[in-house]
Amino acid sequence: MPQIKALFNGHISILSKQYSTVIEKSEFNSIVIHAGSLHYSFLDDRTYPFMVNPHFKYWVPIINNPDCFIRITPGKKPELLYFKATDFWHEMPEDPNGFWVDSFDIKMISSLNEAKSVLGDLTSSAYIGEHFSSFKEWGFKAENPESMILEFHFMRAVKTEYEQYCLREANKHAAKAHTVAKEAFYSGASEYEINKQYLESVGILGHETPYGNIIALNENGAILHYTNCRTEKPNEHHSFLIDAGVQFNGYASDITRTYSFKKDEFNDLILAMDEAQHKMIANIKLNVSYTENHLKSHVYIAEILEQFGFVNLPAEAIVEKKISHTFFPHGLGHFLGLQVHDVGGFLKNPQGTQISAPEDHPFLRCTRVIQEGHVFTIEPGLYFIEPLLSDIKKTENSSYLNWEKIESFMKYGGIRIEDNICMKKDGFENFTRDAFASL
Ligand code: GLY
Ligand code: MN
Ligand code: MN
Repeated sequence: MPQIKALFNGHISILSKQYSTVIEKSEFNSIVIHAGSLHYSFLDDRTYPFMVNPHFKYWVPIINNPDCFIRITPGKKPELLYFKATDFWHEMPEDPNGFWVDSFDIKMISSLNEAKSVLGDLTSSAYIGEHFSSFKEWGFKAENPESMILEFHFMRAVKTEYEQYCLREANKHAAKAHTVAKEAFYSGASEYEINKQYLESVGILGHETPYGNIIALNENGAILHYTNCRTEKPNEHHSFLIDAGVQFNGYASDITRTYSFKKDEFNDLILAMDEAQHKMIANIKLNVSYTENHLKSHVYIAEILEQFGFVNLPAEAIVEKKISHTFFPHGLGHFLGLQVHDVGGFLKNPQGTQISAPEDHPFLRCTRVIQEGHVFTIEPGLYFIEPLLSDIKKTENSSYLNWEKIESFMKYGGIRIEDNICMKKDGFENFTRDAFASL
């Protein structure tokens, strides 16, 4: 507790300085960040699981209490309007407590009207959130001013020590759950049962994960965002691809591992991918664009395609003819933080200039020049995806593919290995490998 409190104080002090600078040069005196409101499903009285505004949880780790507000005014302690109304239908939030309370001037509110009167004159204030239409008559000067939001997003890519601590913890919890899931796979469990054990091992509900768990047996590993979790067991277990994280104080881990049921050639392929992923991480340098790392990763994938005889061409030709795209169709990774695909990955500067992904690599989610404190994933993949293989079969590249061998690997789906990396001044920290090693 004392450690996290000190880290959090440091985090708030950095954010206060950064935000004050941005607000002082703007046309606003203050900004008001809304945690968000519950969303109702159409013609129903049921709500969707609450997903807090990431701008709000950047300031305070309250992820489950709608209609709270933070107001930032340069030169003043940040104000937190904490929502707590008498309610006998739902569990009421606890009173504010924990390592973060001393960082705020806290005002309790029990209704939105009360929030309005506490906030007072808002004619020089900007609203940051997704429900502006509900607050039209509050008199805000503006809603989500774009240049301000872009500057916040640019800054948010550099994680404070507190944030790095949270991401490290999110990795430790996920590594524990991954280990349980792996054991469930080797015991012959169904996807549903594996997922159940994953959640149970860290005591969370399905909607509390940072993204929908991907628990894929056999050919389902080839569906990049497969989230069905089938209850029936397959006749045979060949492979297991698990892409799942855990949240800690609102920060996400995003980890993928792939396992082979037997010590067969697919297992050798996993080992080759693991070695390549290590090299891809070791190659990352400060002040080099993430795009370069992505492009280089295609060379490693091509070498594996050549080595295992999936493609009868030298690696350079596999890249040159863009054949590696069929087997590795997504980006090498993305920024990670409060959101699993965190913001700021395409920004060149605080003014919001965007750096596009190369035309042939439309799914790359990060093109930014890597700096100290950036946290991102490195997640190369090699898959046997039926629709993409059908596409290439219609082209002249088809003749270079060893179709018989590819057919024999369809049952495994594919491989992805994903770690969460923090860039440091003199190298990198691999939150994920460290977390598995610490178990
Ligand atoms: N789990 C989603 C991703 O890896 O980007
Ligand atoms: Mn993932
Ligand atoms: Mn990812």
